[in-house]
Formats: sequence, structure tokens, C-alpha cells
Amino acid sequence: MTQGIPLQLSHDQMKALGTQALDLVIEHFETNRENPVAVTIPRAQTEQMLRTPLPEQATPVSELVEILARDVFPNALKSDHPRFYAFVPSPTNFVSVIGDLLISGHNLFAGHWMAASAAGQIEINVIDWLNQLVGFPAKEGGGILVSGGSMANLSAIATAREARLGGPNEKAIVYCSDQTHSSMAKGLRILGFRPEQKRTIATDDGFRLSIRALEAAIAADRAAGLLPFCVVANAGTTNTGAIDPLGPLADLCARERLWLHVDGAYGAAAVITDRGKKALTGMGRADSITLDPHKWLFQPYELGCLLVRESTTLQKAFRVEDEDHADYLEDVTRWVKNDVNFYECGVQLTRSFKALKLWLSMRTFGLAEFRRAIDIGFDMADHAERTLRAAGTWEITTPSQMGVVTFRWKDGSKSAAQIDAITRATVDLMREDGYALVMSTALEHRPVLRLCPINPGTNSSEIEETIARLGRFSAEVGARG
Ligand SMILES: Cc1ncc(COP(=O)(O)O)c(C=O)c1O
Repeated sequence: MTQGIPLQLSHDQMKALGTQALDLVIEHFETNRENPVAVTIPRAQTEQMLRTPLPEQATPVSELVEILARDVFPNALKSDHPRFYAFVPSPTNFVSVIGDLLISGHNLFAGHWMAASAAGQIEINVIDWLNQLVGFPAKEGGGILVSGGSMANLSAIATAREARLGGPNEKAIVYCSDQTHSSMAKGLRILGFRPEQKRTIATDDGFRLSIRALEAAIAADRAAGLLPFCVVANAGTTNTGAIDPLGPLADLCARERLWLHVDGAYGAAAVITDRGKKALTGMGRADSITLDPHKWLFQPYELGCLLVRESTTLQKAFRVEDEDHADYLEDVTRWVKNDVNFYECGVQLTRSFKALKLWLSMRTFGLAEFRRAIDIGFDMADHAERTLRAAGTWEITTPSQMGVVTFRWKDGSKSAAQIDAITRATVDLMREDGYALVMSTALEHRPVLRLCPINPGTNSSEIEETIARLGRFSAEVGARG
């Protein structure tokens, strides 16, 4: 690089780098299906390939991009691959990818109104759209874009605690189900809750939180002089897609004056479809909802969101008052009054203009196209269930719901322990095979296979081929005895 202003590229250098990088991304979008869905290499190999000393001297950036293309991007799980059926897949869209480029290229500080007023307006607009979709009241609702579901869940509990109890209280009790995502336990610990302040409520045979067990736990806690203040419901558990009884839970929380938080990190977005809306009836009666656009709204990482029924509850939880307020931020609030300062609505002060990518893609494609994309996920999971049933060799442990189906090999001559061993071996063989990524989860302490085919780029023949291979592997392992 030449002398001059440090860290700058010439016009031509910027164009050349931009073209090289963009070509790489376009190639990824165009050839993803043909590439391996999951590659993990050992630490010894990555050390050898990628460990370098502190770079005192410059290296041509084109060489570095080549290293990324050759050694880094291929050696990963491709959560946007059409045959990535594990975890919660993260299919993206090219418009939002360009949105990410615009976000970092302009590097707007989206922490307060003075710094990025029009960007703030876009964030407010995006939050309003999401509030409308989940059924929160038009004017009062608010929210904040965050890094993902873990941060949204943590922020929700901080908000609930402030709203219902006015701050930390060692008698405070939170209720979750045995299917609640582990990010909730992590968030509670970070917020200073001890393990005994979290109640894990049993679920019914559909893995939905049991209202009766919850009522009994609340009554017992009140009788013991404790302070129940928040119930966490699931709108699509990660394990099975189960949705807790949201309407009855809203009734119970209203009766008991408890905050209802709905973790819809991956499932809540399905409310834009007819099937999702029906399944999620009652969600709009919650006090707060986690909805991650980087899951079922097709956005690149990191884009999570916490929505709240009453926007003022966020400021109550996160605004640092008077004497603790940062002196160097005083002008910001003196010059611009009564507009939204996002740093007062969440954990971060410095935050990027995350709303841009969701805004850009929602406006570019329109909601109908997102609806179509989510509907394909529902269809593919239904198709997987039908294919499994038709094969006659599978036990459906949970039917297709919210784009998830779970199952295990069926063979009356085998014990439960043998079937469990077949399940584990089948996952291993499928991973070695490499056609698709399918993984297991555990239900009632037993492993099951799990398919989450929510990438709108997948198709029924890929689902059928995946199930055929799973069947071959399970039969092979079973035959070995
Ligand atoms: C239901 C649910 N909640 C929370 C999370 C955590 O979200 P994140 O990984 O974005 O932090 C996940 C992740 O899959 C999830 O499925």
C-alpha cells in the first residue's frame, strides 16, 4: 500500500477488492447446493493452515481473500445450504447481504437519535411492522434489535423484572418449561438469578407446558412467601416445534399479574402465514416476544429482536438515570428531546444500523414473498412426515409442526437401548455420507432424529433422498445386531 492517509485504498483498489469479494459471494449463492453441506476439520489442521505471526508487514488483500475462499469458507457447516436440516437453519437472501455491506460501509452509529435520526426512523418502522405482525397494540408497542435470541431473552427478563418488581429481588421466581431454550437459563444466571429462582415446569405428551403444573407451582411459591413474576412460553421449541398453550397462559398471567414472555426466536415469524397465525393464536397477548429475523425471516447473522407490548418498559429497564448518566452524552439528550435513543432501550450503547437489512429485504421482496418462503418450510416438514410414514419403518415421535419433525427407527425385535444405538449410529453415518446434515436431539432422555427443512431452496426429492439414506443406514446398523 502507498504512503498517504493510512488504511485507505485507491478508487481502483476498492473496485477490484469489491469485485473479488462480490464474485465470491455470488458464486456462493449460485453453487451452494453443489457444495458439501458440512465440513469440520481438526484443530491441528486449522493451526497448520491458518496460524500466522502478528502481521507487521502488509499482504495483498486479494491473496487474503483467496485464503478465505480456499481454506475458511468451505470448512464450515453451511447453515444456508438447501440440505442443512439440523438445528435452526439460517437461509439468507442476497438483498440483505448487500444490506450488511451498506451497514458496515456507512457505519452509522444507531445508538441515539442525534447520530442517525433517519436510520432510527427505519428501525422504529421495522419494529412497528414486527409488532403489527405479532399482534401487539398499534401505538404502544416497542422493541429493540439485538444480536440474537439469547440477548433478546436476557433483555426480556431484565425488562420483566423491572416492570413487575422494580429491580432484583431474591424472592423473584421465573417459570419455564422443560423444553425452554438453554439461553434462558444462561440469561437468568447473568442477571443474578440463582438456580432455585427458576422453576422448570413439566410438559404434556406434546411437549407443551402444562398449565396445571404451572398453576400448582405458582400457588406453592406464593404460599412459601416467594414472588412469582414471569412465565416464559415457547412459540416453537427448538427440539420439536411445540407451541405452549399461549391463550390459556395469557389468561393465567393476567389473573396472577405475571409478565408473559414468549420465546418465538425461530417460530414467531411464522405468524405471517395462515398456518403459523392459527398455531400461534394468543401470542399477541404476551408482554414481550423474542423473534429472530436471522432465523425464519431469512436475514444474515446477527439479527435478533425483542418486542414489547409497552415501549416504556424498555426505558424503565435500561435507562441509566441522572447522576449515573454519562456526562459526555448530555448534549445528545439536551439537543434532541423526546425521540428514541436506542441505547436507553437495551444493553448496547454503540450499535450498528441492523434494521437496514431487514427493511431493505422486506421492502424489496414484499411480505407475500416472505410468506411464500416460510410456507415452503411448513410444506417440506409435512412432506418429510408423509414420506417417513409411507416408508413404514419409522416411528414419528413428534409430527411436523413449525417446520420440525422428529422420528426414530422402528423395529419391534429391538430393545429401546438398541433403537437408541441405531439412532446415534445413523446420525454418524449420515454425517460421513455428507448428502445432508441431519442431527439428533433428545426427547424424554432418548435420542431421536430431527429434520428442520425450513430453507425455501430445498425440495421434496431432496427430502425423500435424505430419508431414503437415513433408512438405509438404520437398516444396515440394525442388521449388524
Ligand atoms: C427457541 C430459541 N430461543 C433462543 C435461541 C437462541 O438464539 P441465538 O442463537 O440467536 O442467540 C434459539 C436458537 O436456536 C432458539 O431456537
